[in-house]
Amino acid sequence: MPPVSDTMAPSARLPQNGRALSANVDLGRLVRNLNAMRQASKGLGILAVVKANAYGHGAVQVARALEASGLAGFCVATLPEALELRQAGISSPILVFGSFRPESLPVAAAHGLDLTVVSAEHLLELSELVPRHPVGLHLKLDTGMGRSGLLLSELGTCLDAIRRLQPWIRGAMGHFAAAEDPDPRFSRLQRSRFLDGLAQLRDAGISLPQVHHANSAGCLRGFTEGDTHVRCGIALYGLSELEEARQAGLSPILELRAEVFRSQLVPAGTTVGYGCTYVAPQPVRLVTLDCGYADGYPRALANRAQAGYQGATYPVVGQVSMDSLTVVVPESVDVRTGKSMVLLSREPADPHSVANTARLLGTIPYEVTCSLNRRVTRDPA
Ligand SMILES: Cc1ncc(COP(=O)(O)O)c(C=O)c1O
Repeated sequence: MPPVSDTMAPSARLPQNGRALSANVDLGRLVRNLNAMRQASKGLGILAVVKANAYGHGAVQVARALEASGLAGFCVATLPEALELRQAGISSPILVFGSFRPESLPVAAAHGLDLTVVSAEHLLELSELVPRHPVGLHLKLDTGMGRSGLLLSELGTCLDAIRRLQPWIRGAMGHFAAAEDPDPRFSRLQRSRFLDGLAQLRDAGISLPQVHHANSAGCLRGFTEGDTHVRCGIALYGLSELEEARQAGLSPILELRAEVFRSQLVPAGTTVGYGCTYVAPQPVRLVTLDCGYADGYPRALANRAQAGYQGATYPVVGQVSMDSLTVVVPESVDVRTGKSMVLLSREPADPHSVANTARLLGTIPYEVTCSLNRRVTRDPA
């Protein structure tokens, strides 16, 4: 392993995996975002959505920082995601959103996990198993997302099974399909369906201590009347693009930084990468960074994205390879081996911010950070 020189930027220190590519997560900003969402929700319980490795930010470090600041619990998509948090010592309630194989129930019960009831069929399966393997249950109502939950039209036939499960029912939930849409009509329709569903359940004598329908956008836009909790993901990571998010003071927390492993002055005509898609038009410095598409930096950014160095940005040129990419800087810019460049910036206005990178790719910020995989070290900033 090369020695760690004191000329390296602190954030470029060699991580444990020996590869200098790290997502530096500002945990102080994360907690400020949590507090901003507490205010935006007017004091509702916050369930932090930390599935998909906390949208790429590192689930364990994110959950530890949030748990230390106090919150109602966490949400994940899968059993392994929940177990990772328990193994890291997270003791808050954890709600698993995804469907669940019956044979996994004893493990969920042993780790004190809560499950989502995702269909009428799932409800029947759980009504047999949960009395033997007790887990908390959140009844999901499909209010218009159309992908999981009990349809309001089938709620009547489900009431007996729900009553049998009452001792384990923690609450009911729904999920907005279009809460960011400037036109609030569909969200209002979803809310009114949700309230109808809750009324049916309560009229049948079912008690629902926790009620939550809003994601970050639903919470920021105030679609929470009568709810006890909100489920926030993207807002905590500072990547909601709503004006309300800016007004609430939310800001991005992740910076992706890659170490330079070669910095070379080259003559005009030098070609870069597979397919020679870039040819230096004049003498330039080619800077090769330790980051490629196998890390989750999309290949589609080749010849389109920018990388930051000391307040300026420079183009990513040639194809993005599996493990490396190349940036071209003017001859006069002295970017040496061992220094690092920023591939995703925390400043929303930067061309290489997560939001602007998502725009370049024709996708949403969620996909950009979720794509960063386990080859990328997660470090507190
Ligand atoms: C069921 C559910 N609730 C809440 C969230 C959080 O959404 P957001 O990140 O937009 O706050 C998600 C995210 O996909 C989700 O699937």
